[in-house]
Amino acid sequence: MINRKVGIIGAGAVGATAAYSLAMMGTCKEIVLFDIAEGIAQGKAIDIAQATHYAPQPSIITAAESPADVKDCDIIVITAGVPRKGNMTREDLLVINAKIIKSVTQDVVKYSPNAIIISVSNPLDVMTYAIHKITGWERNRIVGMAGALDGSRMAYQIYKKLGYGAGQTGALVIGDHGQNMIPLPQKVHVGDVPTTDLLSDEEFQEIIERTKNGGAEIVKHLGTSGYYGPGRAIAHMVEAILNDSRTVVSCSVLLDGEYGYSNVTAGVPVILGKNGVEEIVQMTLGTKTREKFKVSVESIQEGIEILEKNGFCN
Ligand code: APR
Repeated sequence: MINRKVGIIGAGAVGATAAYSLAMMGTCKEIVLFDIAEGIAQGKAIDIAQATHYAPQPSIITAAESPADVKDCDIIVITAGVPRKGNMTREDLLVINAKIIKSVTQDVVKYSPNAIIISVSNPLDVMTYAIHKITGWERNRIVGMAGALDGSRMAYQIYKKLGYGAGQTGALVIGDHGQNMIPLPQKVHVGDVPTTDLLSDEEFQEIIERTKNGGAEIVKHLGTSGYYGPGRAIAHMVEAILNDSRTVVSCSVLLDGEYGYSNVTAGVPVILGKNGVEEIVQMTLGTKTREKFKVSVESIQEGIEILEKNGFCN
């Protein structure tokens, strides 16, 4: 890929950190930021562009004045949305963000018709589903960023328990990007050693709980959600696609019979390459994990019903 142009819609904390991470790795020729709030994309683009002076490879970082300027991108990352406020229900948030996603996605279809979309806005799996319905594109071209982040949070918890193996630990989390996510620490290895030889059942339980609360723990300290972890996880997925590296990453994808479900998005391991989702990896799940996966999928389906009730899937 010569032109490697990435558009980031929503230049808030996560979008800008993804841009910074990509710029520091020199992954793209060009990154264009857009945000509805005046000045945000412009200010962050200038700041990141100046940081590229010390990057290993040059990249051009610009701000778009309008959605029409985010054009002909190879990849579009969508982080646009609003956070949940005190008096909002989950349903309120879902409908507000779905409206934003709808207008943003319609622009992507118009101005970057050949792109692969990485969706990031929450509720993640439901917004990824909405993007499928709004675009009508082949399912390999739309991929939700969830497992890449939750998996890195699980690997961190494993490292904290063991005190070794940083960067050598698997990162397998499936299901939804919420309270019913399914971290699978017992399925991964540290170096080449299975974690089942290193950790007890009790320790696995702790790792699972801490992974699920990984986002909330950061909010507790910072008063806002994390952005370095999400930003880097997005960049990891962009790199896999642009480099056609066929890397296995858990992502939220539209299932069509895989794992026994259809017409629903959920997190499963996939192979990421130049076409986006090259293949969905079919793991064998044990009985307990299958039950958890069912609960997880049902929670996503509830969100999809709200989308349908509000006319976002027509
Ligand atoms: N078009 C473009 N940008 C928009 C639009 C829109 N229609 N609506 C909102 N935005 C922008 C906001 O102005 C804001 O700058 O999206 C940005 C979101 O950034 P933050 O509020 O800083 O949120 P952030 O922490 O980056 O999270 C973004 O990722 O992990 C998820 O739950 C998170 O949905 C949230 C998203």
